Amino acid sequence: MSPFRITRTLPEDATGAALRADVRRGLTGSPMTLPPKWFYDARGSELFDEITTLPEYYPTRAEREILLARSGEIAAASGARTLVELGSGSSEKTRYLIDALTGLRTYVPVDVSESALALAGRALVAERPGLEVHALIADFTAGLALPGTPGPRLVAFLGGTIGNLLPAERAAFLASVRALLAPGDALLLGTDLVKDEEVLVRAYDDAAGVTAAFNKNVLTVINRELGADFDPAAFEHVARWDAEREWIEMRLRSRTAQTVKIPAVDLAVDFAEGEDLRTEVSAKFREEGVRGELAAAGMESVRWWTDGEGRFALSLSVVR
Ligand code: SAH
Ligand code: AVI
Repeated sequence: MSPFRITRTLPEDATGAALRADVRRGLTGSPMTLPPKWFYDARGSELFDEITTLPEYYPTRAEREILLARSGEIAAASGARTLVELGSGSSEKTRYLIDALTGLRTYVPVDVSESALALAGRALVAERPGLEVHALIADFTAGLALPGTPGPRLVAFLGGTIGNLLPAERAAFLASVRALLAPGDALLLGTDLVKDEEVLVRAYDDAAGVTAAFNKNVLTVINRELGADFDPAAFEHVARWDAEREWIEMRLRSRTAQTVKIPAVDLAVDFAEGEDLRTEVSAKFREEGVRGELAAAGMESVRWWTDGEGRFALSLSVVR
């Protein structure tokens, strides 16, 4: 078997149909919304990687610190022969886990971004001879089926990406992850924690404007895929903290009254001056909330680690 395989779990037209359905639903509702998974074409994945290096964006550094300190413990507790990673992106921090898991045979990165999977997968097989990499181009919210590789399995969901799902989506997602786990398998979950509003808002509205470009990239994706005529310069990047829901919202605010045409879905969308399109939520968590959501999905969080400044947490859970 070749050490690197990349499998598309859905035909390409299914992705197009999903984008059309999300755009139709999201831009005809009030307030207007789009799901964040559409940020991640090749350019969006590159921009995200740039975000992870920004001084204001602490989650990647905080999670790396925990992985560096705890990968040995995680590996000893899991003994995984298969590591599945949801929303794997560059797989950069995952290398700590891969190196610590001495019995690891197969790494299964799962992502909607084909370019990120191809780059990360090729680099990993070159760096780690003997490791089989079976990448899946798939939406982790849409009934994931995993290859029949040997257990025990460790499913990693890093970066705080779970916070990009709305609460009801999170519950459904965690139940679907639980269904993938057999006794002896484990889930390693990264969650960003509630903290000072100023620190949070700066992380999503950086001085160099990289997050603004990432946010506007979704308009470029819709222009290319659906023939739309969004002018990214006609929208302002907005990041705000919702203290009640404890999440950051990224929005695109129309600078003027304008109409945008989206031919592939036969839509003309009117934006009032100052009208917002919500493009992402990024929920921030507390320990009790994370444990409660995992328990509700039939999992028990057995370990909880934070970085030295208490900004970010990794939890290890098993099936109950
Ligand atoms: N885990 C990496 C990357 C986080 S960025 C890290 O911690 O740095 C979020 C990643 O999830 C991106 O690579 C994006 O393409 C992927 N992603 C977002 N929504 C997804 C979905 N619904 N299904 C699969 N992958 C998704
Ligand atoms: C992938 N995800 C966890 C990032 C986050 O922090 O919510 C995406 C992101 N959005 C803006 N900056 C980074």
